[in-house]
Formats: sequence, C-alpha cells, structure tokens
Amino acid sequence: MLRLRPVLPLATLCLALLSTSALAAVHSTRQAMIERGKILTFACIGCHGIRGYNIPYPNYNVPKVAGQNRAYLLAALEDYRDGLRRFPTMVAETRSMTTHELKEIALYFASLRGHVKTRTPTYNRRAAKHGAALVSTCAACHGLHGIAVAPEFPDLAGQYPSYIKRALEEYKHGLRKNAIMNGMAAPLTHREIVEIANYFASQKGPLGQIPGD
Ligand code: HEC
Ligand code: HEC
Repeated sequence: MLRLRPVLPLATLCLALLSTSALAAVHSTRQAMIERGKILTFACIGCHGIRGYNIPYPNYNVPKVAGQNRAYLLAALEDYRDGLRRFPTMVAETRSMTTHELKEIALYFASLRGHVKTRTPTYNRRAAKHGAALVSTCAACHGLHGIAVAPEFPDLAGQYPSYIKRALEEYKHGLRKNAIMNGMAAPLTHREIVEIANYFASQKGPLGQIPGD
C-alpha cells in the first residue's frame, strides 16, 4: 500500500501534462490546416489575388475572399462543388476537393482577416446614398454596415459593387440557390439592386485580396 501512494500525484501530473499537450495538438492541427489551405489555394491567386480583377461576359469583379467569414466560405465552396452555384471556373476548381480540403481553404482565407490590405472599391456615391435607405431588412443578418452578425453570413462591407449586384441578380432569378436569399432578392428592382450594391461597397470592411506570396 505504501508503495502505491506516490502513484496518485504522479497520475494527476500525467493528466495535467496530457491536457496541455492535447491543447497544443488542437492548436497545431488548426495551424496545419491553415498551412495546407494556403498550399491548396496557389491556383486561386491568379484571380482572387489581383485587385480589381474582373471577368468578362458578364463583366464583374472577382469577389474579395480574404478575411471573409469561415462558415460562409465553406458553405459557398460546397455550393460550387455540389452545383448549387454555377460559375464554371469555381465549379471546376472545387469539383475534386474533399470537404476537409474545403474546410482548410475556408480556415486559411478567414485567418487572413486583419492581415490584408482593405480598400474601399470605386462606387457610385449617389446610388450608395439611396441604397442606405433600403438595407434595413438586410441588417438582421449582414449588419447595417455590412459586417455580418454571425459567421454563417457573408460580410458585404467593401465588397465590389459589381459582384454584389451580380450575386443579387443571380439570387433574384434563381440561378444561385439559397432559400433565404432567393426570397430576399425576389422583390428587389434592378435599380434597388444597384443602389444596395453601391451602399454596401461604400462601407469599410475587413475583406481583401489573398496574398500572392
Ligand atoms: C478564373 C478566376 C478564378 C479562379 C482561378 C478562382 N476563382 Fe474563386 N471566384 C471567381 C469568381 C468570378 C467568383 C464569383 C462567381 C460567382 O458569381 O458565383 C468566385 C467566387 C469564389 C468564392 C465565393 C465568394 C463569395 O463571396 O461568395 C470563393 C470562396 C472562391 N471563389 C474561392 C476560390 C478558391 C479557393 C479558388 C482556388 C482553388 C478559386 N476561387 C479560384 C473567380 C476565380
Ligand atoms: C436571414 C438572414 C439574411 C437576410 C435578412 C439577408 N441575407 Fe443576404 N445572405 C444570407 C445568407 C445565409 C447568405 C449566403 C447564401 C449562400 O450561401 O448563397 C447571404 C448572401 C448574400 C449575398 C452574397 C454575398 C457573396 O459574397 O456572395 C449578398 C450580396 C446578400 N446576401 C445581400 C443581401 C441583401 C441586399 C439583403 C437585404 C435585401 C440580404 N442579403 C438579407 C442571409 C441573409
């Protein structure tokens, strides 16, 4: 019996050590996921790493994805992979990726929040002013100034107006499928879409281009 006594404190010590290393493991797993996410996104820099880059037919800016919310990014990437969003390059880029890989990419992009240059894009002041009066319903999820209230919703502040417009048109016409947003965009007129897009673009936010190194 006597010989067993020291065992208890030793066990406690072992447990304590174990939980510290478990914490370190969680941290290093997250860091490793971010590193892998970065490697997986080299092919994305050609579009998402160039400020003001736009694609033709129809002509609109490639969205800023650096600093965007993780849960939203993952949902968006899964939607391209699973065909709920249609932009061909994005469907092709994600087609062969596993959900774990998409999680790594989302984690990497989200980790860039606060580490990328954020510039307000060119926008139409007049339209933005009118747009400010139209966003009270959007604020419940995207925030009055375009900073989302939860990570499941995208930040819109400082996003390119041409991209916001494009996204709203796609929701309105059912080309991009999302139960909430299809309903939100359905009653908006073309003019209101332009005004709302310019309003959110005019707001200061954390979004930027992914770094090219
Ligand atoms: C040819 C240019 C191009 C390349 C290469 C490209 N993207 Fe995209 N990406 C776009 C465009 C354009 C959109 C918007 C498409 C749409 O309207 O649905 C987009 C949309 C996205 C979105 C959704 C953004 C949002 O706010 O909803 C994410 C996330 C994304 N891309 C990540 C990636 C990743 C990760 C890669 C590389 C594996 C990649 N993209 C490669 C052009 C590109
Ligand atoms: C109840 C919550 C909610 C409300 C209210 C709401 N949204 Fe959204 N919004 C979402 C969600 C969720 C998504 C992501 C949908 C998806 O995955 O395609 C989204 C996506 C978007 C996008 C696409 C952003 C991108 O990066 O691709 C735009 C633009 C947008 N919303 C604008 C609006 C506007 C304008 C309003 C008001 C008229 C509005 N939303 C109201 C939840 C909401």
